[in-house]
Amino acid sequence: MIEYAYAAVLAYLCGSIPFGLILTRLAGLGDIRSIGSGNIGATNVLRTGNRPLAAATLVLDALKALVPVLVARALWGEEAARIAAIFAFLGHCFPVWLGFKGGKGVAVMIGSLLALSWPVALIFCAVWLLIAFTRKMSSLAALTAAATAPIFAFVINDEWLAGTVAVMAIILFFQHRTNIQRLLAGTEPRIGEKKSA
Ligand code: G3P
Repeated sequence: MIEYAYAAVLAYLCGSIPFGLILTRLAGLGDIRSIGSGNIGATNVLRTGNRPLAAATLVLDALKALVPVLVARALWGEEAARIAAIFAFLGHCFPVWLGFKGGKGVAVMIGSLLALSWPVALIFCAVWLLIAFTRKMSSLAALTAAATAPIFAFVINDEWLAGTVAVMAIILFFQHRTNIQRLLAGTEPRIGEKKSA
């Protein structure tokens, strides 16, 4: 059982590294939390106009989940990997370093899914891209991909992975609560728009 605690702590610490905040500060763009939506994720970093920085945020946020999940699996097995996925997600969304006010979890969910079940990760990305290109809204794309991911995990893998993915999806929806309000009000900004309602 102690190995599950190790996996949880390792994953939480990795997940809590706020790459969006660190990269924008290093690039001299100020505090990303005072720009656009205030989120520390890649979509908001894109609002600074710096595409490479947004891409780097996306990749690093995915890796900070992918790596601890793979390490947990290699050291402690599949159960530990699934626990690591949830705790990397919690670390990103509720980082102790930022007063538990973190990101919304999309890139981290992709990273975890890549480690847990790459077919589910690919479908998640395909759904995200489909909605993002047709509706031009990152949040709507993320919410749709997250809502459908547990179903694909159940069909492709098993009910345990579906449960793990469902936990992440529920937290992702909670983190997108202001986006959901804006989507319902018709004021959600489109991808790349600098202003956020
Ligand atoms: O990746 C987060 C995205 O779904 C929404 O981000 O900055 O528009 O709230 P944002």
